[in-house]
Amino acid sequence: MMHNVGSALRSALTQGLIRDEDTAVIFYDLSFLEARIRYLTSSFPPETLHGLAVKANPLTRIMEFAARLAPNIGVEAASIGEVTMALHTGYRPDQVIFDSPVKTISDLIFAISRGIHLNIDNLSELERVNQLILAGSLTPVGLVGIRINPQIGVGTILESSVAGAYSKFGVPINIYHTELEQAFLTCPWLTGVHLHVGSQGCSMQMLTDGIGVLYDFVLGMNEKRSKIGMTPISVFDIGGGLPISYHSEIPPPSMQEYVSKIAMRAPQLFHPASFKLMTEFGRWVYTNAGYTISRVEYVKREPAINTAMLHVGAGLFVREGLNPRDWHHEYSVFDRHGNLKSGQDDFAYNLAGPLCFSGDIIAKNVLLPRIEEGDYLVIHDTGGYTFSMWSRYNSRQTPRILGYHGDCFEILKERESLEELQRFWE
Ligand code: LLP
Repeated sequence: MMHNVGSALRSALTQGLIRDEDTAVIFYDLSFLEARIRYLTSSFPPETLHGLAVKANPLTRIMEFAARLAPNIGVEAASIGEVTMALHTGYRPDQVIFDSPVKTISDLIFAISRGIHLNIDNLSELERVNQLILAGSLTPVGLVGIRINPQIGVGTILESSVAGAYSKFGVPINIYHTELEQAFLTCPWLTGVHLHVGSQGCSMQMLTDGIGVLYDFVLGMNEKRSKIGMTPISVFDIGGGLPISYHSEIPPPSMQEYVSKIAMRAPQLFHPASFKLMTEFGRWVYTNAGYTISRVEYVKREPAINTAMLHVGAGLFVREGLNPRDWHHEYSVFDRHGNLKSGQDDFAYNLAGPLCFSGDIIAKNVLLPRIEEGDYLVIHDTGGYTFSMWSRYNSRQTPRILGYHGDCFEILKERESLEELQRFWE
């Protein structure tokens, strides 16, 4: 996505928002982000709760921004820390979906008694919750569901596929079908199901197949529950995972198309009287809305390869450094005044970061216009799963983060000071 990066960069430079010490800056195009969120909410029935995945973007200012856009925007939290941040930002407990696979008893008590929507991850956790409720020490205030692995297979990226025959997440439906049935027939407070098939690399069809498996299970269970006078399972959390495009020429998969596929396979999910639908998108919402610029400190020229020495590397681009096979970005080069450079150099560039290990290269052999010291290298599509995965290795200060609507900028997060950095290690 281009987002008119050049004019944003030039405005930020003119407005003095990129100071000498701002060797790298992360930008968010807030108009684009707003459009994505509005497109998401308008694609689903208005009663749907959209728990935006905090792990994709935990910035407080962005969480506040999203909350202001629609009343049915919530968050999906992967840890008690993310739950607390969401509550602190102003989300109500019933707008928070808590999904960690490793919750402690005190996490469970906190979430259930505060009315946070809890998704139980496994049968041992279910037993813990059941015991607490039976002992009378806990009364569920909010909704409680269970994560089920539909076991429909893995996508193109193994590390972010979670619905294979084996997964560390959820209860595998084919192995524990009987136990799941038993749970739904004996725990009246268990009224929800949750799945998440994978993140990037899983096609729309795979995601829909996963939903279909759980949908059939739920319809079957609801017949059995109604026969013994139990209330039906009424919460259906489809997780996130709609992939995005990291290439400007390839349009992202359409959310509306995904929704119509789901509606065809699982029509009752769209009857608000029967089901409360929840989603947990992260990458699709955030990633294309942001990009990162780094000043090029040096260019090392060798006969076979040039190396652009940047201020961001594997500390910000953890996956790209460790698993370059699966993760790619587009790059562009601007001069120190913010003018786009075009053409291609005779040689390819390695884009190297500042960290002390030789794997700190975010991309190898990239054909780019001729890069000079002082230019800005732009790494596109970094609005999700990038700053949230920041590594403290080598104690680099976190960069300034800017958001903008047109020419109007705000500082979403200030560059980390040396004192704050020091405090982290104390
Ligand atoms: N719900 C659950 C339970 C999840 O585990 C995830 C992502 C999401 C929702 C959001 O999925 P999305 O819509 O963003 O695809 N560290 C990885 C990303 C892993 C994502 C994990 N879970 C990365 O390197 O990009």
